[in-house]
Amino acid sequence: MEVVIVPDAKAGGELIAEAIADLVRRKPEALLGVATGSTPLPVYEALAGTVRSGGVDVSRARICQLDEYVGLPAGHPESYRSVVLREVVEPLGLGEDAFMGPDGTAADVQAACEAYDRALSEAGGVDLQLLGIGTDGHIGFNEPCSSLASRTRIKTLTQQTREDNARFFDSLEEVPHHVITQGIGTILEARHLVLLATGEGKADAVAQSVEGPVSALVPASALQLHPHATVVVDEAAASKLK
Ligand code: F6R
Repeated sequence: MEVVIVPDAKAGGELIAEAIADLVRRKPEALLGVATGSTPLPVYEALAGTVRSGGVDVSRARICQLDEYVGLPAGHPESYRSVVLREVVEPLGLGEDAFMGPDGTAADVQAACEAYDRALSEAGGVDLQLLGIGTDGHIGFNEPCSSLASRTRIKTLTQQTREDNARFFDSLEEVPHHVITQGIGTILEARHLVLLATGEGKADAVAQSVEGPVSALVPASALQLHPHATVVVDEAAASKLK
């Protein structure tokens, strides 16, 4: 695992955006796995800037989602489908046909999870998966105690994560209790994992994931098992590394 410490979130965003641009220059049809939440926004902004200035042509790239709320209508502004379309797909000048994600509205959620894992492998697998990290060490929505071999499935959000995400909704009550998330085993199949963590609030989770034992109690520690994992942290998030 490679750990890169950058001065701030903007620098982290620029560094990762350049790594994505580089990948797309080498492999124009790359399948890029994206995360939602606040942390990756500087990556998407920097990448969209590179695209606008002609630094990379992403017109053949494809985007896939890491997770999705269960039960929010697809058009809900906070469904992850809407968020990824708004923050990634549209700013990159791509259409909805370049995008794939799990169906959080499916009547048979289990079947939707299996279909998504299948769709990812049929698409050739994820080339680069961008990850954030929860204050409890979750990746995707694999909360502590998730199996390190887990596949895409339905998970119940912890109260802590619902509270962390309430800022995107009008009230805590509106935050769904369930999500579909790529499993840790699914995430580990991506060819390159890039985790971005910024801010002091992530410092404990980063230290445990990078320097602690590999454990289901800290899902992001599974990155230690991956042959090509990069952890990009700003100085605040790196503050508890030895
Ligand atoms: C969301 C996701 C989550 C977030 C994590 C951190 O798709 O995968 O694991 O990355 O909850 O969220 P932020 O970046 O908002 O602190």
